[in-house]
Amino acid sequence: MDLASNCKYQMLFGRNLNSITCKGLALIVIALFLGVVLLPLLSGYGGIDKNNLDLVYSRSLSLDSDYGIRKDKFLEVPQIVWGLNNQKIAFARACLTARLLNRTLLMPSFSASLFYKEVDRLQPISFDKVFQFDRFDSLCKGFVQLGSYPDLRNQTGVFELQKGSGRKWTAERDLDQLKQFIKDPFDGYEVIRIVGKNPFLWHDHWPVKDYARVFDCLVLVDEIAKEADRVVSKIREVGKEISSKIGSEQSDFGSDSSLLEPVPYVAVHMRIEIDWMIHCKKLERKLNVSEICSSRQEIMERVGHIVGLKGPTVVYLAVADSLLEDSSILTGWKDGLLPVEKNKLGVDGIYKKYPYLIQSAIDYEVCSKADVFVGNSFSTFSSLLALERTQKMIKMGITSSCGADVRWPSYAYNILGESNGPHKWMTNMSDTSLKAISYGSNIISC
Ligand SMILES: *[C@@H]1O[C@H](CO)[C@@H](O)[C@H](O)[C@H]1NC(C)=O
Ligand SMILES: *[C@@H]1O[C@H](CO)[C@@H](O)[C@H](O)[C@H]1NC(C)=O
Ligand SMILES: *[C@@H]1O[C@H](CO)[C@@H](O)[C@H](O)[C@H]1NC(C)=O
Ligand SMILES: *[C@@H]1O[C@H](CO)[C@@H](O)[C@H](O)[C@H]1NC(C)=O
Repeated sequence: MDLASNCKYQMLFGRNLNSITCKGLALIVIALFLGVVLLPLLSGYGGIDKNNLDLVYSRSLSLDSDYGIRKDKFLEVPQIVWGLNNQKIAFARACLTARLLNRTLLMPSFSASLFYKEVDRLQPISFDKVFQFDRFDSLCKGFVQLGSYPDLRNQTGVFELQKGSGRKWTAERDLDQLKQFIKDPFDGYEVIRIVGKNPFLWHDHWPVKDYARVFDCLVLVDEIAKEADRVVSKIREVGKEISSKIGSEQSDFGSDSSLLEPVPYVAVHMRIEIDWMIHCKKLERKLNVSEICSSRQEIMERVGHIVGLKGPTVVYLAVADSLLEDSSILTGWKDGLLPVEKNKLGVDGIYKKYPYLIQSAIDYEVCSKADVFVGNSFSTFSSLLALERTQKMIKMGITSSCGADVRWPSYAYNILGESNGPHKWMTNMSDTSLKAISYGSNIISC
């Protein structure tokens, strides 16, 4: 635990410490933290609860008992389509299907663009242009395995597996079909090629923790990761400016920036564009619930009431491009919250260099690194972020992000939480299907 970072953290969240404390009287700092902020956090560290232990243990057990995936049998899948999150889910599903068949997944193509109704215009982009291929295999070793086409020996041929579709193609039928392919004669083929329309978007046979495990192995290629870092440092620069202004007014610890860890920021995945509003209103009618669509005002209001967020703090707004024209998204925020988006940060040029998929991947990374994330629980993008952030905390030994004052909290602004703020949000890692936590759901388990 980095003391400097905590000093900074406290400073931004409105608590006062003098500079001597910050500069290194570790014991005093710790004592203060125990009393003020870190008690819940530290108890999170020390008191790993049983659920979490189970998770940790089952992970390592499954690693030990796992002799890996065959490297001479392959699964090939169609080009993966739709938005970044759908593609990540579909990819994970392809991996888990390959695992079920004990086969190496031939590195698939994603789609760089979003013309999902015009399949011929979908611009394929190879997996390894977005995520690190070798890194994936080393992180996921023994669980799932990616291979490349030159690994093929072309000896025992290809069998085409036609997936069903439509209403009658239930999850049970889908799974039964897959299970047939574990056996001979199909198992003998070197390659099983899945054909059909985007098969992995439709059926979910795996528990949340299996998906989480695959997502964990997805590391952006350096080029894209660097772009995301550039955006993050722009955000932090803005934060540094405002906090040093405030800092020099209020106390004497603003100037020595070398001691300070990166300035915290909040990321809000703000879904208020017209397409979403139409979609979410329909969904509200269909499900007879009223807490899916949040207006701009409601989002600002709730973010302004996050407990412990005393500002001054930069708020990065991850919004659809259509909203960047609308300057009203930057006005009306509570004092102490400074909203920024791509244009205001002057990073729109970074995004413009890339196709849609990469732009989303950069935004995703920026939200994932935020100290506080606020999203909509009915959005898949937000849900995957909450999942990843929950994972990150579990790895740190924090068992529940539902309590106050945890590091990297996530919130759902569409659900009312304490003190008129957004509701705390943590993914239920024991859930039995991804659907429960990610497709149009208000289950946020806090
Ligand atoms: C895959 O097959 C190999 C060799 O037959 C076996 O050792 C391994 O346990 C299998 N892995 C899975 C995940 O079924
Ligand atoms: C097998 O076929 C693939 C695709 O046609 C080719 O790229 C690969 O080099 C071949 N592998 C071998 C070992 O001949
Ligand atoms: C919708 O929900 C409200 C309260 O939650 C309930 O009173 C009403 O009967 C429901 N309507 C339908 C059509 O289910
Ligand atoms: C998490 O999901 C499991 C399985 O569906 C369920 O039994 C449990 O109650 C859930 N926990 C929370 C906190 O929602």
